[in-house]
Amino acid sequence: PNRQKKKMFPPDFAWGAATSAYQIEGGWQADGKGPSIWDTFSHEKGRVFGDQNGDVACNSYELWEKDLECIQQLGLTHYRLSLSWARLLPDGTTRHVNQKGVQYYNKVIDDLLASNVSPMVTLYHFDLPQALQDQGGWKSPGIASLFDSYAQFCFQTFGDRVKLWITINEPQVCAKVGHEDGIHAPGLKEKGTAAYLVGHNMLRAHAAAWHSYNSLYRPEQKGAVSLALNSDWYEPLNQGCTEDIAAAERDLAFTLGWFAWPVFVTGDYPEIMRSAINTQSKKLGYNGACRLPSFSNDDPAVLGTADFFALNYYTSRKVKPGGGCEQMLCMKADQDAEEVLDSSWPISGVSWLAVVPDGLRKLLKYIKDTFNDPAVLITENGFSQVGPLQIEDAQRSVHYKDTISEVAKAIYEDGVNVRGYFAWSLMDNFEWADGFSVRFGLFHVDFADSKRTRTLYQSGRDYAKIISKYKSGQ
Ligand code: NOJ
Repeated sequence: PNRQKKKMFPPDFAWGAATSAYQIEGGWQADGKGPSIWDTFSHEKGRVFGDQNGDVACNSYELWEKDLECIQQLGLTHYRLSLSWARLLPDGTTRHVNQKGVQYYNKVIDDLLASNVSPMVTLYHFDLPQALQDQGGWKSPGIASLFDSYAQFCFQTFGDRVKLWITINEPQVCAKVGHEDGIHAPGLKEKGTAAYLVGHNMLRAHAAAWHSYNSLYRPEQKGAVSLALNSDWYEPLNQGCTEDIAAAERDLAFTLGWFAWPVFVTGDYPEIMRSAINTQSKKLGYNGACRLPSFSNDDPAVLGTADFFALNYYTSRKVKPGGGCEQMLCMKADQDAEEVLDSSWPISGVSWLAVVPDGLRKLLKYIKDTFNDPAVLITENGFSQVGPLQIEDAQRSVHYKDTISEVAKAIYEDGVNVRGYFAWSLMDNFEWADGFSVRFGLFHVDFADSKRTRTLYQSGRDYAKIISKYKSGQ
């Protein structure tokens, strides 16, 4: 009778939740931490919803033990956190190490391991030391070797215990939202080349760190290193329309392909991207080759610099040509893609997040087919809430249940090598430009209470049930 009982997940599947330093830690000036670009940016008027900032956030710098209790309560096998570069190296360089910062992360890592939870550590999650921004930040080519030194410092200091590393989180968002749209720190609104230059330097930085790990640390530490790439699933608005099909392909190329093509396929940017940039540049009388940089032989090769594919997936879009900035020299115009929602997709708390669980399955299949069947870790997926406190967050429970069952189908029906799933986020936190108005947590955090009390949502309870059901791999 049990013959039909389907295997849902492999026994060593990673069940995690994720956070990032600036979004949860607070302690922005504590014990010698240097300022980051998000400290600067959020302290400027008009940047963040309600002029909020992450000065205290969830106060995880002081309340780490509370976070650990949450992690234990969920029964996670893995916890994804990020290190604050400026907490470890206040001016961004290894000339001065903040030992208090080292102690903090040592305790976090040791406590996780003592609880049988494996840490996955992100080195860069949007929070560049301000001192490095003052020298040009990600637009400056020298950032790659500074990042490599920071990464090596972290491998040396924590790599005996940390076996899963993400160098850079969502380079596409840092580059475009931070340097062209001006919605994230450092808040630049530069059209034309800035975003491509930042993306390029992020790839150079990532590759340098991967090569350092590979030759100097991997032999002893035996861990794995990748970069976390965000992408929606994009499909043509009209399946049979050639222009819509091409627009959806451009969106995939500009979002995921921008970084995944160089790292997993050719060592260079996708041809679709290069030719779209050239076409738009020419139209306006510019030279496209001057906008999207080329990789130089003096840099370490980018191809092959990922030990697994790390994917952040939230939502899907239907696409047709357009977008409304045809006369501009910017990424949006290069992309020439207008994104719309399907009316059948429910919307979560924020307008950009339509709930499309099977979009993840389609994207996973696309990744398998396009990027040489890599091992995939879903490093983020989640559902947001706004408005009045709702501990019984049934909609989010449904989101997790449906999404996880699409992941199971990707594994057992499509043969995608998915090795883990991390919910975003362990707890409500500082949602960048949306401040604390958007809640992604499995735990509710009371930001009006100085103790920042954490309370389990129904979705957290249900996620814990899913984990305990599948942890043993039945
Ligand atoms: C991706 C980012 O990595 C994370 O910092 C953010 O909070 C979530 N998406 C939700 O927007």
